[in-house]
Amino acid sequence: MQGIEADFSPADLADLALQRTAALISLGGGGALVSWFESGNKAALMSFLAPVAVAQPFTRAVIEEIEREVDVLGQHIDFSPITALSSIGPGLCMFELLLYRRHRCRLYLIDIERSDEHQHGFAQRGSGYSSNPTARAFLERNGVASADIAFCNPRVEALNDEPVDAILSNISMGFHYPVTEYVLYIERALRNNGVLIFDKRKGVPDAGWDALAPKFKTRVIVDSPKYQKLICERR
Ligand SMILES: C[S@@+](CC[C@H](N)C(=O)[O-])C[C@H]1O[C@@H](n2cnc3c(N)ncnc32)[C@H](O)[C@@H]1O
Repeated sequence: MQGIEADFSPADLADLALQRTAALISLGGGGALVSWFESGNKAALMSFLAPVAVAQPFTRAVIEEIEREVDVLGQHIDFSPITALSSIGPGLCMFELLLYRRHRCRLYLIDIERSDEHQHGFAQRGSGYSSNPTARAFLERNGVASADIAFCNPRVEALNDEPVDAILSNISMGFHYPVTEYVLYIERALRNNGVLIFDKRKGVPDAGWDALAPKFKTRVIVDSPKYQKLICERR
């Protein structure tokens, strides 16, 4: 781990577990996850993650998983300067912290935080399980300048369309819900030649991406059974 400090409350760890279920399941937390699917209640997740002997290896596993993912992405984007990045569904922002350390870019972070829905499939509206204040505290504690951070919860305030060089959505838009909700934002905010990076779930209809795709030159950089990670350069 590249010197990342993380000291999350049980409620924040429950959010992180929903954001990163592989680490949860590998430590035996599958039952607590099922309990959330069935009820939307995080109590079982919180009590599973409460012991330090679980919380620490869980957090470490998540950080290591995200470090590996950022290393893969970095091979494709690190050669071009990114001065402003927005991220749709960043969760607790570990991925964005590592990109910040590589690019020193301004971060615009868009997450709905909470929702009535609680599912992990592909639905018109995604499920929210994050906290923007917790994510901000995590970024600042790890050296991101507060002037470089802006959050938006689009369920409670309007998105701003300030230009960015890259829009990222990691395991969120296109994976849990269609691109449709963000088509206008992407069209307004992404600079020409800027890149959209997202995980496109296989086998689901996405009218939003169908509308945007002709305006991008797209490459697949990860091909897994469930999704493709796409880098899409705006023409
Ligand atoms: C599976 S987590 C991924 C978190 C993080 N990007 C990562 O790679 O660890 C999905 C995130 O998307 C957020 N989310 C769900 N629906 C959303 C929406 N419509 N707009 C923005 N964020 C959304 C959730 O709150 C959650 O933080």
